[in-house]
Amino acid sequence: MSAMQVFDTPDAMRAWSDESRAAGRRVALVPTMGALHDGHMALVRDARGRADAVVVSIFVNPLQFNRPDDFAAYPRPLDDDLAICAAAGVDAVYAPTAAAMYPSGFDTHVEPGAIADRLEGAFRPGHFRGVTTVVAKLFGAVRPDVAVFGQKDYQQLTVIRRMSADLDMGIEVAAMPTVRDADGVAMSSRNRRLTPAQRAAAVCVPRSLQAVSDALAAGERDVATLVAAGRALVDSEPLAAFEHLEIVHPETLESLTRVDHDAVAVTAVWFGDVRLIDNRLL
Ligand code: PAF
Repeated sequence: MSAMQVFDTPDAMRAWSDESRAAGRRVALVPTMGALHDGHMALVRDARGRADAVVVSIFVNPLQFNRPDDFAAYPRPLDDDLAICAAAGVDAVYAPTAAAMYPSGFDTHVEPGAIADRLEGAFRPGHFRGVTTVVAKLFGAVRPDVAVFGQKDYQQLTVIRRMSADLDMGIEVAAMPTVRDADGVAMSSRNRRLTPAQRAAAVCVPRSLQAVSDALAAGERDVATLVAAGRALVDSEPLAAFEHLEIVHPETLESLTRVDHDAVAVTAVWFGDVRLIDNRLL
């Protein structure tokens, strides 16, 4: 196996990728913002099964942060991340600088449709425009055959699938189930910003989604009642501040009033200044 390559400009990344594909190798991309954890590595393992060469991108994208404090506090352990990628047999890391990603004069954005205005989009204005713009740029630099995303960011996955199809990008967008710690809390780079007490309290998030699922299994179909059952778990946790819990159509993300077919429950909960999201297919 040849040594892992690290690229920090789109041109260098694209040259390697073009060469790989010219040699008949299928290329997979795992886009990340670094602070890699086991959830990311599950995406890398999945990518390995789908392609001959795996690229991990690491870039904390300023465009998708609606709060400057969140952007500033986002963890950036690049050396650790590179060591994790090398140990996992990643073929190339694309870790552009902000100047390489957004040079002066940068002036083009990818505007997602109504699907991006709901849920997360309503609470984080501009977030998905930042995500679609950077993912389009990552797709342009890496030109992967397939890109692998986690289902934890359910709306992000839906928005990116829409973008890839609508803009004829020809890139397969694959999804991997959320990876969880033993207590059920979804793995997230933001978890490392929680105090031990907040981390323990965060178990109320998967439990609230479990409560929704249990109420549904017991025959409840009314969304307001299902949401109340889930919300109660968060409201009873003193370190948690409920933001939203909604039950939506799995593709259009439109709000439902009754659950008579497949649906997804999506939620966001604050612990101090850390916002955690999670979801569960119903
Ligand atoms: O999910 C993430 O880590 C980011 O939103 C992504 C897809 C890498 C774009 O910056």
